[in-house]
Amino acid sequence: MAKRLVLFDPAVFVAGRDYQIFLRVGADCAVSVEIDGKRFFDHANGVIRTRTRIHRVTVPQTALDKTQKYTVVVSPLIERKPYFSRFAPEERLDYPFHPVPQENINVYHIADAHGRSTHAIRSAAAFGKQIDLLVLNGDIVNSADRLTDIDTIYRLSQAITHGSIPVVCVRGNHDLRGRYAEQFGDYIPTVDGKTYYTLRAGGLWAIVLDTGEDKPDNHPEYGGTICCEPFRREETAFLQRVVAHADSEYNAPGVTHKLVIAHNPVTNVAEPPFDIEQDLFRQWAALLKNDVRPELFLAGHYHRCFVSDPGSAFDTLGQACPVVVGAKPEGGKAFTGCGITLKKDKPDIAFYRG
Ligand SMILES: [Fe+2]
Repeated sequence: MAKRLVLFDPAVFVAGRDYQIFLRVGADCAVSVEIDGKRFFDHANGVIRTRTRIHRVTVPQTALDKTQKYTVVVSPLIERKPYFSRFAPEERLDYPFHPVPQENINVYHIADAHGRSTHAIRSAAAFGKQIDLLVLNGDIVNSADRLTDIDTIYRLSQAITHGSIPVVCVRGNHDLRGRYAEQFGDYIPTVDGKTYYTLRAGGLWAIVLDTGEDKPDNHPEYGGTICCEPFRREETAFLQRVVAHADSEYNAPGVTHKLVIAHNPVTNVAEPPFDIEQDLFRQWAALLKNDVRPELFLAGHYHRCFVSDPGSAFDTLGQACPVVVGAKPEGGKAFTGCGITLKKDKPDIAFYRG
């Protein structure tokens, strides 16, 4: 049963102070997660969900970090009706789990896979280290036009993490395109429904920023489907709230490393029509530089791999820290991603082609 019904190993996304365990399935079923005898459900306000093809079970980080193992419980639905719904016997899938450590954190970064997974998976293997955290930094899909497009996220997570290490998943501009784009937040982690948030994982604190589309909202290519300008202004307010609560965010006890993770490295002003939101991105840059003071800004989008130090030719709006642009797809031929080890001193940053 499990092989046909469960399409991929679960993805353990980290968002906020929780893990959101996602399971991509091929048929109606109920999904829950058991940790140390306690059961967590995928539910909608107390109703067990069975009609979705991507289940989300939210569990507290503290619980899974402590047990370092979890069981996914899948109950295939026979019939859902107002009275006496019926399920087939449950299937239990056990996974070990490795939380992010406080120090010497091995991060592998992939963006811009654009629906291809084979070479991105090989590039992660070329990193050659025990990965502690996988970052999927946008444009993993080429568009969100079919539900199966979103499977690239789950295919990469399965091959690289086997459901046993945390994954950060950020939205890129291509993820806002196609018939499923408006539901994309149902298929990736969110906090209070938003695709921007902060997270903790071991010694790491990170702010995930959703840079949205890369051209003006009224660009003809979007055909009237995009309103990222007001969305980004919501995000400015969020960034200001994070700074106002620094003591429980990036200045909290146990934070050893601070990252910004966003698809588009917005401190670079690109050529028209990509030269959007300069005042707003300058405001984000100032908040990051003066208050958050991150160690690195991880980005993709440019289909190149390089590190831009503050003040470089790439830094037009005022970088707070080095910007790592770490993803280079080469069609179906190769993929280069970025391996980062966060250490007490300077981080190790290198690019791996697979
Ligand atoms: Fe992009």
